[in-house]
Amino acid sequence: MADLMTIHLKVWRQKNANDSGRFEDYTLDEVNEHMSFLEMLDVLNEKLMMDDVEPIEFDYDCREGICGSCNLVINGRAHGPKHKTAVCQLHMRNYNDGDTIVIEPPRAASFPVIKDLVVDRSAFDRIIEAGGYVSVKTGSAPEANLIPIAQDTVNESFDFATCIGCGACVAACPNSSASLFTGAKLGHLNMLPQGQPEREKRTIAMVEQMEKEGFGDCSNHAECEAVCPVGISIAAIAEMRKDYLKAVI
Ligand code: SF4
Ligand code: FES
Repeated sequence: MADLMTIHLKVWRQKNANDSGRFEDYTLDEVNEHMSFLEMLDVLNEKLMMDDVEPIEFDYDCREGICGSCNLVINGRAHGPKHKTAVCQLHMRNYNDGDTIVIEPPRAASFPVIKDLVVDRSAFDRIIEAGGYVSVKTGSAPEANLIPIAQDTVNESFDFATCIGCGACVAACPNSSASLFTGAKLGHLNMLPQGQPEREKRTIAMVEQMEKEGFGDCSNHAECEAVCPVGISIAAIAEMRKDYLKAVI
């Protein structure tokens, strides 16, 4: 039988973007060690609703580490204590009976809080939109595969393509920079033959959109790489900088 724990929670509650917000304390008894972190929040919300308290809003979708929605800052760390693990993949067995856990939204001026733990990350969508379309006809999958690409290039491009857009990199960066996200989104297209015709235009547009959205500059702290749940390397930022310089000179 699973070990049961008592967990104390300090959760950020904020009614809307104009509310100044505050931490609220909750205690959950009988937390099953096999629950995921989000299941623990579900149980807390059921308890709050039984007590006629408004449940806590938090974002999630896939609960499989794919969609990037679940980025919460747990005890000061984006996505919590486990390396390369999104919040939805974190389990309560990583905590001890009697622990206090502080849960906040990912904080950045470009990610305004909508309610409680939910922030508006549409700035990321606008950076991607600024990149535009790939004009090369890629055809059906078999046709696209006829374009020979070195395996190392495919692997590196795929590594960048695994970015789930969660925004943990922004929340962890002392400058609230979106450089790891934008570098990853640029990197996977800029490395492939299909991405070459728009390479310069795309790089300039996405970097400039990132600046317009109010994200800070990268100053090589590498906190982004440390918290990224899919392990995007800061090599993405170096590649973005090289491509941007080549495009504007
Ligand atoms: S680079 Fe990593 S931390 Fe940043 S949005 Fe993508 S997956 Fe999340
Ligand atoms: S809910 Fe989709 S990555 Fe966590």
